[in-house]
Amino acid sequence: MPYREQIPVDKGFDNTLKLLLEGYNFITNRRNRFGRDIFETRILGGKKAICIAGEDAVKIFYDREKFIRKGAAPKRIRQTLFGEHAIQTTDGDTHQYRKELFMSLMTKERLEDMNKIVKRHLDHTVDTWLDQKNVVVYDEMVQVLTKAACEWAGVPIAKDDIRKRANALQALFDGAGALGSRHFKGRVARNATEGWLKQIVQQVRDGQIEVPQYTALYQMCWFQDTNGTLLHEQLVAVELLNILRPIVAVAVYITFGALALSEHPEEKEKLLLGKDEYLHLFVEEVRRYYPFFPFLMAIVREDFLWNGHDFKKGNLVLLDIYGTNHHEKLWNQPYTFNPERFKGREDNFYDFIPQGGGDYYRGHRCPGEWLTLEVMKVSLDFLVNKINYDVPKQELHYSMNRIPSLPKSGFVIQNVTKVLAE
Ligand code: HEM
Repeated sequence: MPYREQIPVDKGFDNTLKLLLEGYNFITNRRNRFGRDIFETRILGGKKAICIAGEDAVKIFYDREKFIRKGAAPKRIRQTLFGEHAIQTTDGDTHQYRKELFMSLMTKERLEDMNKIVKRHLDHTVDTWLDQKNVVVYDEMVQVLTKAACEWAGVPIAKDDIRKRANALQALFDGAGALGSRHFKGRVARNATEGWLKQIVQQVRDGQIEVPQYTALYQMCWFQDTNGTLLHEQLVAVELLNILRPIVAVAVYITFGALALSEHPEEKEKLLLGKDEYLHLFVEEVRRYYPFFPFLMAIVREDFLWNGHDFKKGNLVLLDIYGTNHHEKLWNQPYTFNPERFKGREDNFYDFIPQGGGDYYRGHRCPGEWLTLEVMKVSLDFLVNKINYDVPKQELHYSMNRIPSLPKSGFVIQNVTKVLAE
């Protein structure tokens, strides 16, 4: 008989309310209580869910033989964040084939393009900040990144529509983890943005819009699925939103980066001196330290035994992202903000997982990770080296049960001036 151990069980018929109340800390709180990196709970109407955290947990979670994603994401996430039939909900060949499409967009040249595009939009936008009393960094970055995302992806956007589209793209990720009106706003935004992009896809396919081959719009419009047919225009819209929406979401990390600069003034000094090398360490620590996605969900493909625990076909499994990025066995003083911890650190696909883990091509790890780093670096470099500003008193607190979290004020800056070129 193979060795078996009982998984600790979290009391309660349905702990969804506790999950909502404890947010990013739900899994960590129970891991600490049980003294284990695995336990069982009940959520989403009493459904059994096994929660796991840590490096070994990431390794098993990204084993394609053991888990599938189809049916794992609740409807409310598909209605806002993902869209129906999006890559996140696919497995096997369909997933791998579509993943290659996403990865093919992330060439060195295209990453450099993004750097230039964001820089240009920031240079234009900053002039409007000079006369404003309060500049809300998050709101401004949502606008800038909407313009940059559309330009980079080849999606035409009318000047008058930018604000409307920016609000909708923001609502898609802001409403995913919410109840009530915030969630409803996300669902309305999904219908509106899919409708908008569907029309554009039709126009590209009818030859009414010409778009460069290297763009996401072109590649997605003419991408052939495993069966050799073009994707339905609705699905092209869904996958295009899988490019536009997360680029705009990088505004959250940039806002946290601005918060880190103000709470750790010595970091700003190091960024002024260390330039590119230190900037890399800094953005990595922003992604590790601050909360974004709390956990991932997958379903057990076939029965298997792991570390003495039975995983049964159909079991729901939650991988703790926030907890793994703060795991005491992986990180020295995990709750201290310290970019230096990334100095000389070997890349490991399983212990640092703000955007998922494992292999990009074979698994569900985020294909936009390099683009995220690029956008964060150019934007934070702009805040450090291209402008001066004051940070007035404001509500900088960020909630651990609002998903995604954000400094409450959105990070307000005042008295913005440009740094004169030497
Ligand atoms: C704020 C920055 C971002 C964060 C925190 C983030 C986080 C994540 C996470 C946690 C996953 C799930 C990994 C998994 O299921 O195993 C994911 C998947 C994904 N991300 Fe990102 N991401 C970001 C930016 C981007 C960008 C810039 C893009 C594209 C331009 C992108 C496109 C995607 C896509 C298409 C997937 C699904 C991949 C798959 O299912 O194979 N993300 N991301």
